[in-house]
Amino acid sequence: MKTMLWEDNQLLLIDQTKLPDELTYFTCKTYQDVIQAIKTMVVRGAPAIGVAAAFGVALADLAGVDVEKAAAEIKSSRPTAVNLFWAVDRVMAAEDILKEALDMYQEDVDTNRTMGKYGAEVIDDGDTVLTHCNAGALACVDYGTALGVIRAAVEAGKKIDVICDETRPLGQGARLSVWEMQQENIPVRLIVDSAAGYLMQQGEVDKIVIGADRVAKGGVANKIGSLMVALAAKRFRVPFYVAAPISTFDHEKSIYDVEIEERGAEEVLHYGNCRIAPEKTEVRNPAFDIVPSDLIAGIITEEGIIDPL
Ligand code: MRU
Repeated sequence: MKTMLWEDNQLLLIDQTKLPDELTYFTCKTYQDVIQAIKTMVVRGAPAIGVAAAFGVALADLAGVDVEKAAAEIKSSRPTAVNLFWAVDRVMAAEDILKEALDMYQEDVDTNRTMGKYGAEVIDDGDTVLTHCNAGALACVDYGTALGVIRAAVEAGKKIDVICDETRPLGQGARLSVWEMQQENIPVRLIVDSAAGYLMQQGEVDKIVIGADRVAKGGVANKIGSLMVALAAKRFRVPFYVAAPISTFDHEKSIYDVEIEERGAEEVLHYGNCRIAPEKTEVRNPAFDIVPSDLIAGIITEEGIIDPL
């Protein structure tokens, strides 16, 4: 099952806001539809955002609108995942925008499978692997980065148990990662985010593998809560790996200069449709945090496992 499909000059995206209850597609007929899908997180996860953005530029090109302007608008849809900027720049530099987007679509799947093979080498038979957010097939075109490593370990015949952090406020771990693992009968348990440290202290976690929105000098930006998982992992000596394709690397900036997206208060004030705090409560809602390089055992890429920058 692919997170997105290109059919009849339209981009179909699995609507991730509706999972796990409904598996439906959101149709993008214009580049503005793609922008809306990225902003509202119909499509999310760094590699998926990148490939969707590339198709967004292709939609603008097919419609004969100002492609430079469309590309700039698409780039302003979310700030932290560098794949968005990488993908738009790449298709803009190509002679045939749609062909380039279709190439990127296929490359994403191949890259994740290669990354999975490298990553599976650090996962032992019988391991319990904890992951945060969703760096799975849904965050890419298919297979996933962190969940791709888990899939590859299972395909290699290893018996793996997965623990998914719930990932407040939007529940990508609970809604998406658990769902993906269940589709393939990979044993999975869900925990609240604050239980991760306790389980590590109890010796119940052997490895941690997460994804990344950006890898840069000094560390990695990933979903809010990743830093606390990494700090606990260091304290309890649990190897903490990041799985990320080379397209997630930013060699221009320090990780501390990357814009961390702040999202709306309603995400924190509500749990699903239910308000959980007084109406006028002030909120901070950073969507990502930064894991410093010294907390990371290795970065699993399609070129092998490397040291953090
Ligand atoms: O806000 P999201 O759901 O787009 O955040 C996604 C993450 O933080 C993922 O871990 C990251 O993009 C890597 S996806 C392979």
